[in-house]
Amino acid sequence: MLGKLGQIKSDAIDELNSLGSLKELEHWRVRHLGKRSALTQVLRGLASLPLEERKAIGASANELKTFFEHSYRENKKSLKERTYQKMEAAVKGEKIDVTLPGRPIPLCRLHPTTQMLREICDIFIALGFQVVEGPEVEWDYYNFEALNIPPHHPARDMWATLWIDYHTASGERPMLLRTHTSPMQIRVMERTRPPVRVVVPGKVYRYEATDATHESMFYQIEGLAVDENITLADLKGTLYEFARRLFGQERRVRFRCDYFPFVEPGVEMAIDCFVCGGSGCHLCGDSGWIEILGAGMVHPDVLRRVDYDPEVYTGFAFGLGVERMSMLRYGIEDIRLFYGNDLRFLRQF
Ligand code: FA5
Repeated sequence: MLGKLGQIKSDAIDELNSLGSLKELEHWRVRHLGKRSALTQVLRGLASLPLEERKAIGASANELKTFFEHSYRENKKSLKERTYQKMEAAVKGEKIDVTLPGRPIPLCRLHPTTQMLREICDIFIALGFQVVEGPEVEWDYYNFEALNIPPHHPARDMWATLWIDYHTASGERPMLLRTHTSPMQIRVMERTRPPVRVVVPGKVYRYEATDATHESMFYQIEGLAVDENITLADLKGTLYEFARRLFGQERRVRFRCDYFPFVEPGVEMAIDCFVCGGSGCHLCGDSGWIEILGAGMVHPDVLRRVDYDPEVYTGFAFGLGVERMSMLRYGIEDIRLFYGNDLRFLRQF
């Protein structure tokens, strides 16, 4: 048994001399002082030995245990010291070049629609308009009725509508996803007195099959100005200035009659094609003109509905599609790219 203890000691010392890290030392401690170590087995077996042998072997085994514990503590101390020295040397040897450029951090950016929304709103803010927002889930009253489009009016077909599945006690379905931002004309006039000058950016929804120029969810910006003595000349002047600021100072504009039940007269505004300069190309469909928005003078019945006296007040309103503006400016050929989440597209803006 004494020979076995000698063997345990010499094996442990050999291992100790080759240790290089605190982790290895910890493994050594478990191997030679742990519950399953050879030394612990010897100590556990002492009780079954005859008295004389027990005394002699017990003394040697305990002496070896003390020796192992001492060696463990000493080695731990010196290994720690060696580690610190290595770290210190590494730091001292390190040269930091403060002139090196930093590592680039990937930056996020605004969606092209958000960029265009902000740019358009900024133009109108500079022209004296305020920005307001309104609900996307809207009442039939604001989206249609108050805008001179009663139930069963054929003009409802101009806006394929997504209805909310909610019925009143009398079986009516009065709630929808707004099909345009025009309901905000009514909401704004209901709560303010003239003069009114607002633009309303926001999402609108239509029950439409998507194609290269149509989405079922897209953004519009509505404009409304009501005051004494506002005429069609104010509408034309404001929108002309807007078009030149967004599409270039040399732009020309064209107004033609159009129909929207809530304006009279109604107009459609086009700009001269900035690709061909008006001679005709694929962008303008060979006409030389590109339609950009619908507008008109606020209908007297709409003014009466919000208690504005049409004999005193007049106004103009307009509505434009935001994605269509980006498409024109950047030559984007398919509106579906905006919400397809393809980073190759989005990173270009
Ligand atoms: C309207 O929505 C009227 N509310 C505009 C208006 C406001 C007229 C105030 C008069 C006074 P329209 O349905 O034409 O009109 O839509 C306006 C613009 O939204 C269009 O010129 C177009 O740029 C854009 N637009 C229409 N439908 C879609 C669609 N499915 N996808 C993307 N953009 C669309």
